[in-house]
Amino acid sequence: MNAKTIFEPFRIKSVEPIRWTTRAEREELLKAAHYNLFLLPADDVLIDLLTDSGTGAMSTHQWAAVMEGDESYAGSRSFDRFKTSVQSIFGYKHVIPTHQGRAAERILFGVMCKKGDVVPNNTHFDTTRANVEFTGAEAVDLLRPEGRQPALEHPFKGNMDVAALENLIQRLGRERIPLVMLTVTNNSGGGQPVSMENARQVSVVCRRHGIPLYFDACRFAENAWFIKLREPGYADRSPKEIAQEMFALGDGCTMSAKKDGMANIGGFLCTNDDRLAQQEKDLLILTEGYPTYGGLAGRDLEAIAVGLQEALAPDYLRYRIASTAYLGNHIAAAGVPIVQPPGGHAVYLDARAFLPHIPPAQFPGVALACELYLEGGVRSVEIGTLMFAAAAQMDLVRLAIPRRVYTQSHVDYLVEVILEVWNHRDRIRGMKLTYEAPFLRHFTAHLEPVSDGAGPH
Ligand SMILES: Cc1ncc(COP(=O)(O)O)c(C=O)c1O
Repeated sequence: MNAKTIFEPFRIKSVEPIRWTTRAEREELLKAAHYNLFLLPADDVLIDLLTDSGTGAMSTHQWAAVMEGDESYAGSRSFDRFKTSVQSIFGYKHVIPTHQGRAAERILFGVMCKKGDVVPNNTHFDTTRANVEFTGAEAVDLLRPEGRQPALEHPFKGNMDVAALENLIQRLGRERIPLVMLTVTNNSGGGQPVSMENARQVSVVCRRHGIPLYFDACRFAENAWFIKLREPGYADRSPKEIAQEMFALGDGCTMSAKKDGMANIGGFLCTNDDRLAQQEKDLLILTEGYPTYGGLAGRDLEAIAVGLQEALAPDYLRYRIASTAYLGNHIAAAGVPIVQPPGGHAVYLDARAFLPHIPPAQFPGVALACELYLEGGVRSVEIGTLMFAAAAQMDLVRLAIPRRVYTQSHVDYLVEVILEVWNHRDRIRGMKLTYEAPFLRHFTAHLEPVSDGAGPH
């Protein structure tokens, strides 16, 4: 039988209770949190979609591996297992563990970049951009135009603009571009995948100019599954074979194991370059730890070694991608504006289209995120005017799905909550800031609903 039901390929051995609150309680809680969902205690959230990073559930095999953790300072056998697992997928010569993705970024760019350099990426994630800029280099996003149109359906909206890359190299000269990066999947662009064909073309350009190509590999397994589903010639290849083929196009990678490492903490940096690896390990010792643990416990290395392989299991990926698509497709079918098609790890609501009566200056994304919490105890995150101020091109609300945590009933409940909010959208009011920090204001900002102006209230 070819079952249509979306099927979690696991049974549940340990449960974590989640708590219902009443709408009246949530009104009080939201007020006390100054209408900023970051300031809510997690215990007062029913379904937490703030991020998919480090929030996944580990398997019995991972927990068993945790008990095998070798906590030796140097030469731990857990590091050997970690390195073997990473190399079986990524294939790079040097594997350097770090406490999470941004530590790998800081070390990579610290070693490779300097003032005046330029680093092209399909789209830099915010920590990636910040770490490039911290070295004095410039971070340039070269996303294909399809990736910038939320409503447009396209199989690979994470692709890099190869012609723009070629132009940039011609214009600046190879010397100013120490490396090119490809982020798979493209988080900032909505979890949209990069095709093998695009990665190949980018690799050809890089090789022709002698520029190293690095992958930001956080969601490599989800990207491999999209290639299997959507790219001609890959239907019969395993996700692992697809990942191996992609990484063979590059010279190294950074990775946050909090995503497709299926772990709650960890990351790594890989390279084929012996000289760079030595410099990177020297920096690692300075701030992260000895190269056989890199700021992680031996048990974390074990959990990642197992998790990386589990992330590539076809049954898991089938469920993961189908479940995210189910959420996106069900709300879109009722008219809710989302970034199309739904990504691998998240569904993005287009708050400007959802709440056209709220101008960007009144934070439609924050207003929508607050209403989702009031309606159903759902926590999401605004990616828009509060986060990026005047630089915001869109006001989105991201619903990021933790790995293996929520069931299909939870997803059905989410659909119900979002559609209820959609049905009374004209009653939602805009927000105004009452406090903001000088930088990264979205984490700590205080807001309140506007009392007049937008909306009938
Ligand atoms: C694409 C991408 N790169 C890098 C990072 C940084 O990883 P970490 O949060 O582990 O530092 C993230 C985290 O969300 C990400 O999504």
